[in-house]
Amino acid sequence: MQSIYLVGFMGSGKSNVAVALHQKLNKQLLDTDQMIVDTYGLTIPEIFQQKGEEIFREYETSVLKQTPIKEAIIATGGGIIEKAENREWLKENGKVIFLKTSWEEINRRLVDDQSRPIWNNQDRDKQQLLVERTPKYLEVADLIVETDGKDVHSIIEEIADKLG
Ligand code: S3P
Repeated sequence: MQSIYLVGFMGSGKSNVAVALHQKLNKQLLDTDQMIVDTYGLTIPEIFQQKGEEIFREYETSVLKQTPIKEAIIATGGGIIEKAENREWLKENGKVIFLKTSWEEINRRLVDDQSRPIWNNQDRDKQQLLVERTPKYLEVADLIVETDGKDVHSIIEEIADKLG
């Protein structure tokens, strides 16, 4: 089996869906943000504060390319599709599932979130970011799953059905 890469905006449910798929399919579970934390010894907010977004993106590309391209379920960070290099790598190597979530639903889910540097940056227009990123998620996606109003269980059933 080709590894499954979950992509989508912050709050689209990538991590929860990855855990549920890992349990259902009994495959290794990885998370690119967690790999960055483990590799570089800093939390994601610390990396943004101390090194900046550009360095974070370099770390992200580096860990992406270290993920196993077979037999794993991999949750990615919401900005993984920003770099063309990452998009090419994902298209070439992964079975990519785009969790598509509306702006309204993302807001509902992340209303109390304090852990995401980009979400909590008041100078960033997050709604515009979602608009800009959406074609990039679509570019890499083998499968698109709308998540609004669905629980994790129905999302993984839909994925399992569509992957066949
Ligand atoms: C980011 C999303 C985060 C994390 C980092 C940057 C982004 O991951 O990689 O804070 O640029 O959208 P989640 O999508 O899991 O929140």
